[in-house]
Amino acid sequence: MAISTTSFLFKFFTFTLSLWVLLGSSSGQLSANFYARTCPNFRSITTRAVNSAVSSEARMGASLLRLHFHDCFVNGCDASVLLDDTANFTGEKTAGPNSNSLRGFNVIDTIKTQLERQCAGVVSCADILSAAARDSVVALGGPSWNLVFGRRDSTTASLSAANSNLPSPASSLNALISSFSNQGFTANEMVALSGSHSIGQARCTTFRNRLNNDNNINSSFATSLRANCPTSGGDNNLAPLDASPASFDNRYFNDLQTQRGLLHSDQELFNGGTTDAQVRTYGSNSATFARDFASAMVKMANLSPLTGSNGQVRTNCRRTN
Ligand code: HEM
Ligand SMILES: *[C@@H]1O[C@H](CO)[C@@H](O)[C@H](O)[C@H]1NC(C)=O
Ligand SMILES: *[C@@H]1O[C@H](CO)[C@@H](O)[C@H](O)[C@H]1NC(C)=O
Repeated sequence: MAISTTSFLFKFFTFTLSLWVLLGSSSGQLSANFYARTCPNFRSITTRAVNSAVSSEARMGASLLRLHFHDCFVNGCDASVLLDDTANFTGEKTAGPNSNSLRGFNVIDTIKTQLERQCAGVVSCADILSAAARDSVVALGGPSWNLVFGRRDSTTASLSAANSNLPSPASSLNALISSFSNQGFTANEMVALSGSHSIGQARCTTFRNRLNNDNNINSSFATSLRANCPTSGGDNNLAPLDASPASFDNRYFNDLQTQRGLLHSDQELFNGGTTDAQVRTYGSNSATFARDFASAMVKMANLSPLTGSNGQVRTNCRRTN
């Protein structure tokens, strides 16, 4: 009796352990080899398309990274950001942080079309977004990370959640910390993820206030920005988010230390507050930044995925099936 109880417990334990090993390496029902049999070329197709888009226009890498962020912070990584408005459906594209700002939809469409040709109805738009963000960072010289797949696509979207969940460039440090904390991120992870502003551009309208109202802006930097961002007009004129906007590096963190953060929210990370030390660390140690960034990106990519029979795999990323 005692023996068989022990043996039962042992078997039960081994079973639980192997189940844990099976699932433990993934997030929920997501797994690294999700498309290994159903769409083995998923990775190569995505990487090739991202590399080609980034080589025609480096900024596209930044735009694709941001698209993934704006997807995941609004009710999870479910490709809700990609849904077009229709006569009786309002998506997220007209939200304040997205409107006239998000880019890269055509690149996602191109990847989706190629994947549909090889493995129809298999790869979700949400998984494409996560892989394209990773490949974009790699294409611009940044770190890579290991993703798990199997996210499914939403059948709905939320304009109001897009307006409330995505942080404003006017945010204070406390507002940034709380916006990321609402999604389960620490202040340290928020600073690491902000290093995304190592690449890409911002429109004048997102930083004009800082030019005349902030006292923690480098004066020669402000002067050169004012030329392209006058008090009125030029709302869509662009400025680079750091001094090397086509390479994913730690330059952003050194720019913050010379008061050259472009957005008010950027400079808040180095303004005499609790995150200054981390900005200094990342500025002097690019490997530490790369490592922390990669692990925070894995965490972001796993925010509230739809799995199993929830959601659907859209055949066109812009509309539900
Ligand atoms: C910390 C809070 C953040 C704020 C307040 C913020 C705000 C902004 C704003 C206002 C722009 C310029 C948009 C425009 O002018 O159209 C921008 C660009 C960008 N953001 Fe953020 N962002 C934040 C965090 C992030 C995160 C976490 C990521 C990615 C993981 C990210 C990736 C990017 C990229 C790559 C660009 C350049 C896009 C391009 O050139 O097309 N940002 N951000
Ligand atoms: C909403 O639009 C779809 C197509 O865009 C249409 O099939 C459907 O009937 C519409 N529903 C209503 C309630 O108008
Ligand atoms: C302004 O930028 C210049 C050049 O990067 C730098 O030498 C200077 O220290 C900066 N000023 C401040 C106050 O950080």
